[in-house]
Amino acid sequence: MALLEVENLSAAFGGVKAVDQVSFRVEPGSIFSVIGPNGAGKTTLFNLVTGIYHADSGEVRLEGRRVNGLKPYELARLGLSRTFQNLQICMNMTALENVMVGAHLRLDRSPLKAMLRLPAIVARDRELRREAAELMAYVGLADQVSAEADALSYGALKRLEIARALAARPKLLFLDEPAAGLNPTETGEIDGLIQKVAESGVTVVLVEHDMKLVMNLSDHILVLDYGRKLAEGTAAEVRRNPDVIAAYLGASA
Ligand SMILES: Nc1ncnc2c1ncn2[C@@H]1O[C@H](COP(=O)(O)OP(=O)(O)OP(=O)(O)O)[C@@H](O)[C@H]1O
Ligand SMILES: [Mg+2]
Repeated sequence: MALLEVENLSAAFGGVKAVDQVSFRVEPGSIFSVIGPNGAGKTTLFNLVTGIYHADSGEVRLEGRRVNGLKPYELARLGLSRTFQNLQICMNMTALENVMVGAHLRLDRSPLKAMLRLPAIVARDRELRREAAELMAYVGLADQVSAEADALSYGALKRLEIARALAARPKLLFLDEPAAGLNPTETGEIDGLIQKVAESGVTVVLVEHDMKLVMNLSDHILVLDYGRKLAEGTAAEVRRNPDVIAAYLGASA
């Protein structure tokens, strides 16, 4: 069974069909990329699948279960986690606390128990801190564990977001432009990190404009243009597809 199945998903803003009858399947253990020119509907598609927006029509199934209409935190508990094209990091917290936010998503927390500082809660908080520090090391931020979030470089913040998403222990990780704004060295590090995440068994769905990164990483690529599916296939198939070439030449012309 596919891990994620999307069927005829559509959403419009005013008159604009941002996502128009899009269908695809993501196989477990794969790296699946969504590409397309600016405004093609990639982020909207992510927002629909991750519960930020509601679809006008169509269906999303996670492990065969219909998940339309579920809230982002409910989807997180089912194993779907994400990062954002525009960083969503709390700058008035430490880097470590930002990662801990991701872990809290998967726990049921009782404010009363926390207030009473029951030993079990105190022990669990210590455990969460340890896990968050481990995740920071995993994404290459071991030396920033005690740093305030606003002291981190942009490249480090992009990796911090991935650590926070991983703290929810996802089966399926959505990354919206993880390499945007990064220099070639940082992009290479992100490439390595995404491969490491995928090899650990987490299925990755990626939106990215950096074609070198996409072609290098992806098992399967979906191409969107004006909200519609333009093409789909392996990197080699997509690269030689005349419709894809025309859409990209048109976008850069
Ligand atoms: N919240 C919104 N309200 C109104 N229109 C929106 C909204 N979000 C997206 N759109 C429109 O939907 C279309 C698709 O936008 P979307 O952000 O999904 O594109 P994208 O493929 O992610 O582009 P980019 O590569 O620039 O990030 C665009 O026409 C955009 O203006
Ligand atoms: Mg986008």
